[in-house]
Amino acid sequence: MPTSSVVDKAVIYGRDDERKKLREYVVSEDVGASSNKIGVIAIVGMGGIGKTTLAKLLYNDDEVKDKFDLKAWACVS
Ligand SMILES: Nc1ncnc2c1ncn2[C@@H]1O[C@H](COP(=O)(O)OP(=O)(O)OP(=O)(O)O)[C@@H](O)[C@H]1O
Ligand SMILES: [Mg+2]
Repeated sequence: MPTSSVVDKAVIYGRDDERKKLREYVVSEDVGASSNKIGVIAIVGMGGIGKTTLAKLLYNDDEVKDKFDLKAWACVS
Protein backbone atom coordinates (compact mmCIF):
# COMPACT_ATOMS: atom_id res chain seq x y z
CA MET A 1 0.00 0.00 0.00
CA PRO A 2 1.23 3.55 -0.69
CA THR A 3 2.34 5.32 2.48
CA SER A 4 2.69 8.91 3.60
CA SER A 5 4.99 10.39 6.22
CA VAL A 6 2.05 11.19 8.51
CA VAL A 7 2.11 9.35 11.84
CA ASP A 8 -0.04 9.70 14.97
CA LYS A 9 2.53 9.53 17.75
CA ALA A 10 -0.23 9.26 20.35
CA VAL A 11 -1.01 5.67 19.30
CA ILE A 12 2.58 4.44 18.89
CA TYR A 13 3.99 2.41 21.78
CA GLY A 14 7.66 1.84 22.59
CA ARG A 15 10.33 2.06 19.87
CA ASP A 16 12.28 4.60 21.94
CA ASP A 17 15.53 2.60 21.75
CA GLU A 18 15.21 1.88 18.03
CA ARG A 19 14.40 5.50 17.37
CA LYS A 20 17.39 6.72 19.35
CA LYS A 21 19.82 4.38 17.57
CA LEU A 22 18.52 5.20 14.10
CA ARG A 23 18.46 8.92 14.87
CA GLU A 24 22.19 8.75 15.58
CA TYR A 25 22.76 7.20 12.14
CA VAL A 26 20.55 9.69 10.33
CA VAL A 27 22.13 12.81 11.85
CA SER A 28 25.68 11.42 11.75
CA GLU A 29 28.21 12.91 9.35
CA ASP A 30 28.51 9.60 7.50
CA VAL A 31 24.99 9.52 6.16
CA GLY A 32 23.79 12.99 7.09
CA ALA A 33 23.21 16.25 5.29
CA SER A 34 26.79 17.47 5.46
CA SER A 35 28.13 14.49 3.51
CA ASN A 36 28.36 14.34 -0.27
CA LYS A 37 27.52 10.66 -0.22
CA ILE A 38 23.98 9.35 -0.23
CA GLY A 39 23.39 7.17 2.78
CA VAL A 40 20.92 4.30 2.93
CA ILE A 41 19.56 2.71 6.09
CA ALA A 42 17.61 -0.52 5.64
CA ILE A 43 14.90 -1.42 8.17
CA VAL A 44 14.28 -5.14 7.85
CA GLY A 45 11.68 -7.28 9.59
CA MET A 46 8.61 -9.46 9.13
CA GLY A 47 5.44 -8.01 7.62
CA GLY A 48 3.49 -5.68 9.85
CA ILE A 49 6.10 -5.49 12.59
CA GLY A 50 6.31 -1.70 12.31
CA LYS A 51 9.14 -0.89 9.85
CA THR A 52 7.32 1.90 8.03
CA THR A 53 6.05 3.31 11.32
CA LEU A 54 9.61 3.48 12.62
CA ALA A 55 10.68 5.28 9.44
CA LYS A 56 7.82 7.74 9.94
CA LEU A 57 8.84 8.39 13.54
CA LEU A 58 12.36 9.19 12.34
CA TYR A 59 11.14 11.33 9.47
CA ASN A 60 9.15 13.45 11.91
CA ASP A 61 11.79 13.43 14.67
CA ASP A 62 12.69 16.92 15.90
CA GLU A 63 16.46 16.35 15.77
CA VAL A 64 16.21 14.94 12.25
CA LYS A 65 14.06 17.92 11.22
CA ASP A 66 16.71 20.31 12.57
CA LYS A 67 19.48 18.56 10.67
CA PHE A 68 18.04 18.80 7.16
CA ASP A 69 16.88 21.91 5.30
CA LEU A 70 14.67 19.85 3.03
CA LYS A 71 13.14 16.39 3.35
CA ALA A 72 11.00 14.27 1.05
CA TRP A 73 9.06 11.07 1.64
CA ALA A 74 9.16 8.66 -1.32
CA CYS A 75 7.15 5.44 -1.41
CA VAL A 76 8.28 2.82 -3.94
CA SER A 77 6.31 -0.39 -4.39
N1 LIG B 1 5.09 0.83 17.95
C1 LIG B 1 3.82 0.70 17.52
N2 LIG B 1 2.78 0.94 18.35
C2 LIG B 1 1.50 0.82 17.92
N3 LIG B 1 1.15 0.48 16.68
C3 LIG B 1 2.13 0.23 15.81
C4 LIG B 1 3.52 0.32 16.18
N4 LIG B 1 4.29 0.01 15.09
C5 LIG B 1 3.42 -0.26 14.12
N5 LIG B 1 2.13 -0.13 14.53
C6 LIG B 1 0.92 -0.37 13.72
O1 LIG B 1 1.03 -1.67 13.16
C7 LIG B 1 0.59 -1.65 11.80
C8 LIG B 1 1.71 -2.16 10.89
O2 LIG B 1 2.81 -1.24 10.99
P1 LIG B 1 3.71 -0.90 9.73
O3 LIG B 1 2.87 -0.59 8.53
O4 LIG B 1 4.68 0.15 10.16
O5 LIG B 1 4.47 -2.27 9.51
P2 LIG B 1 5.50 -2.70 8.35
O6 LIG B 1 6.55 -3.50 9.02
O7 LIG B 1 5.94 -1.50 7.59
O8 LIG B 1 4.56 -3.61 7.46
P3 LIG B 1 4.84 -4.11 5.96
O9 LIG B 1 5.84 -5.21 6.06
O10 LIG B 1 3.49 -4.61 5.51
O11 LIG B 1 5.32 -2.93 5.17
C9 LIG B 1 0.14 -0.23 11.50
O12 LIG B 1 -1.27 -0.13 11.66
C10 LIG B 1 0.85 0.59 12.55
O13 LIG B 1 0.14 1.77 12.86
MG1 LIG C 1 5.85 -1.05 5.54
